[in-house]
Amino acid sequence: MANIRLDDILYSQGFGTRRVCAGLIQQGLVTVAGVPCAEPAIEFETDGLRFTVQGVAWEYHEKVYLMLHKPAGYECSQKPGTYPSVYTLLAAPIRQRGGGAAAGVQAVGRLDQDTTGLLLLSDDGKFIHRMSSPKRHVPKIYEVTTRHPVDDRQIQRLLAGVVLDDDPKPVRAAACEKADELQLRLTLTEGKYHQVKRMIAAVGNRVEGLHRSRIGSLVLPPDLKPGQWRWLTTDDLASVQG
Ligand code: URA
Repeated sequence: MANIRLDDILYSQGFGTRRVCAGLIQQGLVTVAGVPCAEPAIEFETDGLRFTVQGVAWEYHEKVYLMLHKPAGYECSQKPGTYPSVYTLLAAPIRQRGGGAAAGVQAVGRLDQDTTGLLLLSDDGKFIHRMSSPKRHVPKIYEVTTRHPVDDRQIQRLLAGVVLDDDPKPVRAAACEKADELQLRLTLTEGKYHQVKRMIAAVGNRVEGLHRSRIGSLVLPPDLKPGQWRWLTTDDLASVQG
């Protein structure tokens, strides 16, 4: 709970520099709880505060915790090489928080350009660290489409552990089940580079399609379409952090 000046509120939410935010307010472009507010210094309790900026409805969030349904053809990098960045799918104020710099919103781990599915983003460094730390073993579920039919031997090898070229220590799937002739559901608790693709290649098959459906207790909701995002709820956050 905190009372904060309106211009500081807008600034903290990514609506521009302090000067820009004060200007938006003075020009009458900001409403709070439906009422126009032209005084930058007026203070509001931020908890659950709803306001509009140039007609765009916003709710105050001290920190960003959100889930994105990553579509294929997007890179998770802020400075992508070939494809557009997933950050371009977010609302501009979210992208601009923290000056749009390294301290701003970051993806929690990365998905390959051609991988689809659940991606978490946050500007809370501790949360990002907790969720991506190999020590915490947060399980991630991948739906894998393979080029060749999956056989039991491949599944047994994935569960027993396979050696990837850069690391002598075998990596193993925490769970692996055949969903269809060319479909595997793979649970991993680590996040090495191209891990699923390299594990599947190590057992003599090949990934044709990859989709992340779950991270810990968080499941990608069916109504969140590719390219769409939503804020994590308090319950989402409590459940995913255990
Ligand atoms: N493993 C991969 O190979 N690619 C991803 O995008 C995620 C996990």
